Amino acid sequence: MEKKELAIKDYFKSDLFKGKVLLLTGGTSKMLYKIALDFMELGGNVALISRRKEELDKVAKELMNKTGQIAKGYVLNLKFPDEYEKIVDEVLKDFGSINYLLNGAAGNFLAFAENLSYNAFKTVLEIDTLATFYMSKIVYTKFMKKNGGVIVNISANLHHLGTLMNSHASAAKAGVDAITKTLALEWGPFNVRVNGVCPGSIEGTEGLDRLSKPEKNDKNSEKKSADLMNKLIKTIPLQRLGTRSDVSSACIFLFSDLASYISGQTIEVDGYSKGTLPNFLIGFPNFDKMWLKPKF
Ligand code: COA
Repeated sequence: MEKKELAIKDYFKSDLFKGKVLLLTGGTSKMLYKIALDFMELGGNVALISRRKEELDKVAKELMNKTGQIAKGYVLNLKFPDEYEKIVDEVLKDFGSINYLLNGAAGNFLAFAENLSYNAFKTVLEIDTLATFYMSKIVYTKFMKKNGGVIVNISANLHHLGTLMNSHASAAKAGVDAITKTLALEWGPFNVRVNGVCPGSIEGTEGLDRLSKPEKNDKNSEKKSADLMNKLIKTIPLQRLGTRSDVSSACIFLFSDLASYISGQTIEVDGYSKGTLPNFLIGFPNFDKMWLKPKF
């Protein structure tokens, strides 16, 4: 039961974000691209942050061609906090405001805890959790505290019960959810709403692609991955994978005034797969062998 991506203009006013600016981290990933595109389709301009310049330039150009709005890329490795302030200053100089912030950058890979180095664990926390906190703090102090705004943090369905081979990302996203709630408390009086969106298995994304290929260097990897997806879909109550527009629509809703009394919430966009298959890796063809004898 596949579902087509939605045209955002069929659901929201085409000038909803006219004159408004969204700063988006992780802006070159396929899922976040759709959020940038929808925001621009509704009249807004977008500042994209990623560490890959070439990719940033390509994505910004494509977004501008598609929408006629402005998109500009800023190169920043989120592991280097000393560089955040300079980038936010540049965005404010170029655009004049940052009305919306989407903390979307994430790093993940499958690994059993016993195979994770201190640095591996730390790296994922830096990209997901520390970056969410620090980028929010800087955008808040430099702009939103005076002018109000909306922050959306991308979470994941990993930490609610724990997820195999994901101790690092589970911990990182648990931290993100805690930041969402705490900032909503502290910044609400300054007209800043802070919410989260927690995507489930979303087709056509790097995340699902990475996590659905359990056995590297296996010549049957493609077939195994397809089998895994078919099994996975059967366990999702809505009987399909999510689309990028499912995730984007939730973000656009949270940005909009329709959500003006919603703060401190993380909305799960997962077809309620959380209810049926929290440890989705159990669907892997050789799960029992992997579990007993990790080989990653
Ligand atoms: N298993 C175990 N450890 C791993 C690993 C794996 N599959 N992949 C990376 N690591 C370890 C590295 O060995 C290193 O630890 P070490 O210094 O002790 O050797 C540490 O993680 C950092 O890796 P590095 O490659 O230097 O970090 P990076 O900042 O260049 O990359 C990652 C960050 C590792 C998260 C990388 O996967 C990434 O860039 N991801 C971004 C995209 C992404 O993950 N998208 C999906 C979102 S769901």
